[in-house]
Amino acid sequence: PSLEKEFLPMYFGWFLSKRSSEILRKTGQAFLDELGSLKNFKKESKYFAPAIEDPKIKIDLTSYFVKRPPGVLHCTTKYTDFGKAAGAEEYAQQEAVKAAYGRGFTLSISALFVTPKTVGARVELSEQQLPLWPADADKVTPADNLPKGSRAHVTLGCASGVEAVQTGLDLLEFVKLEKAGNKGEDMGVLGGGKLQYFNNGMWMLVLSKKVDVRAIFSGYYG
Ligand code: 2AM
Repeated sequence: PSLEKEFLPMYFGWFLSKRSSEILRKTGQAFLDELGSLKNFKKESKYFAPAIEDPKIKIDLTSYFVKRPPGVLHCTTKYTDFGKAAGAEEYAQQEAVKAAYGRGFTLSISALFVTPKTVGARVELSEQQLPLWPADADKVTPADNLPKGSRAHVTLGCASGVEAVQTGLDLLEFVKLEKAGNKGEDMGVLGGGKLQYFNNGMWMLVLSKKVDVRAIFSGYYG
């Protein structure tokens, strides 16, 4: 028996390979470039920039989302806060978590999204991956009842003063609207998919071809 209490990471999650991180970063970058040049986006740019007089001027979303994760990208499963977060020990002790620790997975990226606070990639978890998703992660208020894995995402960037935890909350807002039957306004085809606008500066690009990324399930210790 060990004398010390098990030391838990800051968070558990899937950590993308260097190559997959680069591919996803580039995909996100291309999306921001195209979105910032789009006429329809400029019409709704008040959420991102002070009144732009000239519609020919591109909105630089790359500089807008100043806080970008350094190094490899990841998809958080459980934020354990070194064991202090609610449900941390229970999560770490699950057989599925222990069995998956250190193993390789392929995550499927189905969409990219932008809000005035964050830019992220939506992750569609498989049946094999869902057991690693915490039961409470998709609930913000007790009344929420969204499908398991709704919040799964990779943060690509945050606006100044916004913390990374916001990306998942923003994705849940999109999922809530979808669940209520709101498909967003069809904004046509852009780069790799169909662009939808959900008002209030909420944009989603549903990829016509899902992007597969390689990742290792592990813990981040800071
Ligand atoms: P993210 O998963 O949206 O990127 C370290 O802060 C990592 O844990 C970040 O990647 C962050 O957000 C995630 N994180 C921080 N606080 C969190 C929380 N309360 N719930 C879920 N994820 C959190």
